[in-house]
Amino acid sequence: MWDDLARIGREASTGGYRRYAWTGADTDCRAWFREQAESRGLRNETDRNGNLWAWLGDPEAGDAVVTGSHLDSVPDGGAFDGPLGVVSAFAALDELRARGTRLTKPLAITAFGDEEGARFGVACVGSRLSAGQLTREQAHALRATDGTTLPQAMEAAGYDPDAIGPDPERLGRIGALVELHVEQGRALDLTNAPVGLASAVWPHGRWRFDFHGEANHAGTTRIEDRRDPMLPYAETVLAARREAELAGALATFGKVLVQPGGVNAIPSLVSAWLDSRAADPSSLDTVVGAVESAARDAATRSGVELDVVRESFTPLVEFGHALRDELARILGRTSNAPLPVIPSGAGHDAGILSASVPTAMLFVRNPTGISHSPAESATEDDCVAGVRALADVLEGLACA
Ligand code: GLV
Ligand code: MN
Ligand code: MN
Ligand code: MN
Repeated sequence: MWDDLARIGREASTGGYRRYAWTGADTDCRAWFREQAESRGLRNETDRNGNLWAWLGDPEAGDAVVTGSHLDSVPDGGAFDGPLGVVSAFAALDELRARGTRLTKPLAITAFGDEEGARFGVACVGSRLSAGQLTREQAHALRATDGTTLPQAMEAAGYDPDAIGPDPERLGRIGALVELHVEQGRALDLTNAPVGLASAVWPHGRWRFDFHGEANHAGTTRIEDRRDPMLPYAETVLAARREAELAGALATFGKVLVQPGGVNAIPSLVSAWLDSRAADPSSLDTVVGAVESAARDAATRSGVELDVVRESFTPLVEFGHALRDELARILGRTSNAPLPVIPSGAGHDAGILSASVPTAMLFVRNPTGISHSPAESATEDDCVAGVRALADVLEGLACA
């Protein structure tokens, strides 16, 4: 199962995955999911927002137990971010069947669409749409950097972009949603635990900074005549690092587009994306406000115009104590040490859906902590421990 998925969307030159929403690689991942479901006798369903569901039992019965994650990736992502949760869901079902467990509630395995937002800029599009946290109009206005709109991409992949929207009825039939995910830091490694529980998802967002300057000749334009947008951009990168350190937060410029992109031309436009996160909302506000004001100062000094647009935002999520305590109780029966409970600096569909459904997360140790990189890893033993923990949780929740 893992090997078939691992072949899809892998870039040979880097070893990383490029599984962007509504591309061929995404379609292949979806086909893989459906085959996995079919081969286990589950009923496949795709919801109005393109999220995949594989059902065991009657979805209409309500109080369903749901588990899964996502299959799309960041540019040159690792093998585990997303897929580990989906593969572990199928493997946990296999484990329950091997144990002869009789579930009394419906069970669904899911793969949410476009979690990473790598193509259209907004993270967790599938779950946000279902939860009503992104409107159809907002989604229809999303555009990739190559100009393709989200509706065009959906249509090209054979989906109806006019069908998208909130799905309260479907979410109302879920009693509990548990997402298993590879850890994207080293908290579990440092506490020597293969599996942990999530306490929270840090507030985080993405902001696009467009520095508009004036294209001109690199060899003939006097320094004092230049309106070079690269200068305020460079100052802004340094400001982001400085302000993040001051506030005990994180700020990253990981993507920049320069137009027209000629070696021998002053750019007309530098578009740069800030990703910022913090443990608490006020630190996040402080950092983003300070970076924006540093960018404005720098732009003014260079005669450059600046537009700042917030493209994606997720407020602080604290996972409900009732479900988390239930998971701790279930897993406490099979493990001799209490599970670490850790916050996540990474966003997740379970975080988005926590506003609509009781949700919880299990993390599997990542020995290097590296993620959003081809070097992301987890050992086979820890993946097996994750599957066992997930199977225990599903059994505890769906046999209640
Ligand atoms: C997604 O993984 C994110 O948190 O950026
Ligand atoms: Mn990710
Ligand atoms: Mn993920
Ligand atoms: Mn994520």
